[in-house]
Amino acid sequence: MYLVTGATGSVGKRIVRRLRDRDLPVRAFVRLASNYAELEQRGAEIFIGDLAQERDIRKACRDVRYIISAHGSDSGQAQAIDYRANIDLMDFGQENRVDHFVYISVLGTDRGYQDSPVFKAKREVENALQKTDLNYTILRPSGFASNLLPLAERFRDTGIYFAIGDLKNRSSILSPDDLAELAIQAPDYEAAQNQIFAVGGPEILNREDIPRIFSQVFEKEPFVINLPLSVLDGVRSALGFLNPDLQRSLGTLRILLANEFFCTSEEIHRLESVFDIQMESLESFLKRYLLNR
Ligand SMILES: NC(=O)c1ccc[n+]([C@@H]2O[C@H](COP(=O)([O-])OP(=O)(O)OC[C@H]3O[C@@H](n4cnc5c(N)ncnc54)[C@H](OP(=O)(O)O)[C@@H]3O)[C@@H](O)[C@H]2O)c1
Repeated sequence: MYLVTGATGSVGKRIVRRLRDRDLPVRAFVRLASNYAELEQRGAEIFIGDLAQERDIRKACRDVRYIISAHGSDSGQAQAIDYRANIDLMDFGQENRVDHFVYISVLGTDRGYQDSPVFKAKREVENALQKTDLNYTILRPSGFASNLLPLAERFRDTGIYFAIGDLKNRSSILSPDDLAELAIQAPDYEAAQNQIFAVGGPEILNREDIPRIFSQVFEKEPFVINLPLSVLDGVRSALGFLNPDLQRSLGTLRILLANEFFCTSEEIHRLESVFDIQMESLESFLKRYLLNR
């Protein structure tokens, strides 16, 4: 039995779909308020719980062989959900002698960003996981291509592309379908045991390449609106008076916009050879989701 947390999220639902496509037993950890009908229809065992509750995690871990931690957190919940819930999953995973623990972290978590509780939580979880006696694989993804789907749809309708921050910043935009595949396959590959992988798409893209790719996909000239990072800083300081939690959460967004998150060609080569996979380009992902459906 696989336990998948964040089973309704962008990568979690793809993990569940793929496991069920192979007829493998999956327990999907979901919240009652979430939309989990599709997972149920695919034959996943639905476990209703809250990752802030240790007793829910304890129950969910019973009789599982693999844990795939693929959840994220709501604003202001980094300590409880990004940190504590993962520590609990590891503790109960060890108690239940699970075979393998796959942890979805984030690219750049080792850079020690102090302004983001999420980045800090992920670094602490990675450190803690490496000290357990669990077999593990840590996947550190760059930004998901699925985040760009709403922007691409707007571009298709209007030709407009909005970006905040430096257009020269590089990223390795990643298909969440590929990430799901890696998470599922990690326990099977000897060379993925107790390893950390940077995970990204096959090309290093400047942010200004994104409207260019949209333009190729939709055969439309791009009109780029580029706002400076100071706009986000202004919004963030104003929010500080009204909603300090949201202000802190925007620290993660600021880090993502102000810095570069890309994988080197050596990192992609290592990933593709260990997992015997060819990572999908952004253009191919967009065509698959927006042109062929
Ligand atoms: N998106 C990216 O570009 C990106 C890039 C690098 C790394 N990552 C990491 O990859 C992981 C997955 O990201 P994602 O974008 O797939 O996440 P997502 O779409 O934001 O989904 C988050 C998931 O966590 C669940 N969750 C949140 N709080 C919960 C709680 N208290 N109890 C139970 N479930 C809870 C959500 O359930 P509900 O449906 O109930 O809300 C949802 O299923 C995260 O760790 C994220 O930090 C993401």
